[in-house]
Amino acid sequence: MTNEQANKIYNSIKSGRTFIEVCNYLGLTPMELEGVIFLLNNSFGKKIEIVETEDHEFVIMKKPIRRVQKTLKLAKEDCIYNKYLVVSDTHAGNKRQQFHLLNDLYLEAYRREISEVYHAGDLIDGDYSSHRKEHPRQVFLHGFDEMVGYVVDMYPEIEGITTYFILGSHDETMYKNGKATVGCWVPRCRKDMVYLGQDQWIGNIGNVRTMLDHPGDGSAYALSYKPQKRIEEFESGNKPRVMFIGHYHKYSQSEYRNVKVVQVPALCDKTPFQIKKGISNYVGGVFVQTWSDEKGDIQYFECEPKLYGREDFWDEDGKDKPKVKQLVIK
Ligand SMILES: [Fe+2]
Ligand SMILES: [Fe+2]
Repeated sequence: MTNEQANKIYNSIKSGRTFIEVCNYLGLTPMELEGVIFLLNNSFGKKIEIVETEDHEFVIMKKPIRRVQKTLKLAKEDCIYNKYLVVSDTHAGNKRQQFHLLNDLYLEAYRREISEVYHAGDLIDGDYSSHRKEHPRQVFLHGFDEMVGYVVDMYPEIEGITTYFILGSHDETMYKNGKATVGCWVPRCRKDMVYLGQDQWIGNIGNVRTMLDHPGDGSAYALSYKPQKRIEEFESGNKPRVMFIGHYHKYSQSEYRNVKVVQVPALCDKTPFQIKKGISNYVGGVFVQTWSDEKGDIQYFECEPKLYGREDFWDEDGKDKPKVKQLVIK
């Protein structure tokens, strides 16, 4: 490397960028960038440091800085406390829906005095009649009116509990087929249900920046692989503190780049599509408690899954439909 090249690279590195961002910017692999930084420091008199931040990010600093002091955790009683339930993939209208288990979770939420429930998408089973020819016989409701009407009439309704939901891939088929948005109509009929958007929402739960995510791709073999990929897409400084991922019908809990990541199970038994493709299916919901400081940084996080087994399912095709009653508490 010549002096001119060294200066050019040094000048193009912006202090404060993450190591990965600089790799991408310069078109270098991590190992190559480490080598370049070594050369700049040892052969060209530059001062570049790779610093690990409090968020466990590796950031490049041009001048040595004082390392961020780890702050001590607050005591729980000094934190802002929040609790809520997260559910996903109810697939209303599918013959294997498990609305009685959705009721069970809402009842538990009511007993725990929870006032907010979040739904991570695939509220209804949708309309795949145009390209999955077998789909119409897998559902007991057909079309927008029947499926949305069912949600309006059957989704648990408990005074004091508000359900916030995003829409997922199955819900979106209604838009693709007929320009009808499930999220526009459910809240018109159900004041306790609030639509947050298609596929994604980022906002505050309490004061904690939180994301609901419903990806649209196939299932991953490794439970942690997909969440990691989603988190890598975030720029440093723009990450949520907590992320709930629907769509995969899995349960997992992990932490990556200082983001708590929870895959939310479904409330529908394994469908013929999943059986054919050999895709596993988890059924349940997650009860979440957070203790945060006044900046919205999580001090303590508890995520308690309630998972159901075969013995809990009404797994004979269509059995949930005639037996289940709407859970109403007023
Ligand atoms: Fe789903
Ligand atoms: Fe989905």
